[in-house]
Amino acid sequence: MDKIRNFVIIAHIDAGKSTLADRMLEITKTVEKRKMKEQYLDIHPLERERGITIKLQPVRMEYKEYIFNLIDTPGHVDFSYEVSRSLAAVEGAILLVDATKGVQAQTLSNLHAAMEQNLDIIPVINKIDLPNARIEEVENQIVDLIGVDKSEILKISAKNGENIEQVLDTVIEKISPPEKGSGKFKALVFDSMYDTYKGVVVFVRVFDGSVEPNDRLTFITSKAKTEAKEVGHFKPELTRTSKLSDGEIGFIATGLKDVGMARVGDTIAHIDLSIRPLPGYKEPKPVVFASFFPRNADDFELLKDALNKMNLSDAALTFEPQSTEGLGRGFRCGFLGMLHVEIVSEKLRRDFNLDLIISTPSVEYKINMKDGETIYIRSAGSLPDPNLIENIEEPVVATEIIAPNEYLGALMSLMAETRSIYQSTEYVGKETILLKYIMPLAEMVEDFYDRLKSVSSGYASFNYEPYGYNKDDLVKLDILIAGDLVEPFSKIVHRTLAYKEGKRMVDKLKEVTPAQQFAVAIQAAVGGKIIARQDMKARRKDVTGYLYGGDVTRKKKLLEKQKKGKAKLKERGRVNLPQKVFLEMLRR
Ligand code: GTP
Repeated sequence: MDKIRNFVIIAHIDAGKSTLADRMLEITKTVEKRKMKEQYLDIHPLERERGITIKLQPVRMEYKEYIFNLIDTPGHVDFSYEVSRSLAAVEGAILLVDATKGVQAQTLSNLHAAMEQNLDIIPVINKIDLPNARIEEVENQIVDLIGVDKSEILKISAKNGENIEQVLDTVIEKISPPEKGSGKFKALVFDSMYDTYKGVVVFVRVFDGSVEPNDRLTFITSKAKTEAKEVGHFKPELTRTSKLSDGEIGFIATGLKDVGMARVGDTIAHIDLSIRPLPGYKEPKPVVFASFFPRNADDFELLKDALNKMNLSDAALTFEPQSTEGLGRGFRCGFLGMLHVEIVSEKLRRDFNLDLIISTPSVEYKINMKDGETIYIRSAGSLPDPNLIENIEEPVVATEIIAPNEYLGALMSLMAETRSIYQSTEYVGKETILLKYIMPLAEMVEDFYDRLKSVSSGYASFNYEPYGYNKDDLVKLDILIAGDLVEPFSKIVHRTLAYKEGKRMVDKLKEVTPAQQFAVAIQAAVGGKIIARQDMKARRKDVTGYLYGGDVTRKKKLLEKQKKGKAKLKERGRVNLPQKVFLEMLRR
């Protein structure tokens, strides 16, 4: 066991975790050279395309006479739940900081999480090959943060391979080996996936004893009982072995078909009820809600099945059936943030071939009714009659923004526009500020990320966590197309911002909605009052084009006929919005 090292790489998004992992895979010859490709551990095509890690990914490597189990983790705040799960399965963390960007918001939040778990931390500055690397300044920031000696900070280039072996040697030296248990098998489930042949496959860290194929197993919390069909390691492909032992990270194929029985955070043991569960994880709490409706009503069951399967490797995704007039049956889903919404809808489209309509994402509002009752709503459509409402409260988050100090002014004006409440300014190193605000979550899930990047030339980063509810003057904004309410576009907004948002939406809708055969009004309304409007002209089909020369009467007749047809269409009056429009409206 003293030859095992379990660790994660934690960092802000894009600091180079997956690239560092690539170099480690090469040096340890875990992946054959001809099979090697960039960001090898980003396995899902979506991850590869976008160059971001969404899912944690474990891999076992052999270096010198040691066994390394590395878990590559995502850097985006939406997926910090993946990081927290990984941290509980290891003894150490490589804290990777980008030499050009310095300490960023998720560097900080991931570092705090790692410290809470008492992990051994190795600070590493990456991208030293870049001409705009600010190595000395970043060193100072790290010293400020974790109080290490400068000499303990490694400086590497994950891209060109400089000093990577030094990182591996430091892992051996600084990260503690696993502690030995008493011999009774016990393992923490830190992730899971579904395989058609193997059933539910759980990713585990063994904390005690060992497990072999055919061993009887119990999930301590869910009480599910099964048998180990296969056990093995991540290379990173699932590779069978005869045994998983104390201190190791690996997988167990359980054969279970019911994905609900094998929850992440549960403890697995041999059948022995005297075993106490390991400390599990806090359930991730969804903060953004959006509805998915299959365009083809027959696909409802397919969507349900797809969500169930995705839920297995994405415990943070929640969903409950919902049905509305016009859109039929679908699901109201809960997400950790906007990137999460986008990733899930994209996966449903690609991996499950689903054509979906998606509602405008909403946060969860707290409605205090005049009769003293309190209700929570997750979509503007469920808002009760305004006459019965005493007031509306919205969720707020504690936000930390990190940026070079020259952006202080720009950031403060941005925050003023987002209805945020200033808390404090601190310094990290000499030239970097840490700003703290309390911010309405609804503002954050709008286009905050892009605006933050744009006012800070890309340098600012942010992190947030839930901070309860706050009362404000909120109203429901509706969108009407050809006089019909399009419920998925309804949203709750601050009264003073209703006009601006209504106008933005009708303008954008005009731009992205394909022309119809009749003129269409696109309107925004608050409490039945129209506050913004755009008109779409009818698409004119050339019905006379094939007529040569001057047959005017014939031409007139055809145009007359076209006009009548349009009037009829208009009477029926429904505009069918393609899914593209909903997706466009989601993107900002
Ligand atoms: P997420 O998993 O999405 O959080 O990103 P990550 O931390 O895994 O970063 P990734 O390895 O995808 O690298 C981000 C970008 O930085 C890529 O374009 C890499 O090629 C580049 N990069 C990584 N390391 C280095 C380095 O040492 N030098 C230079 N110049 N570029 C690097």
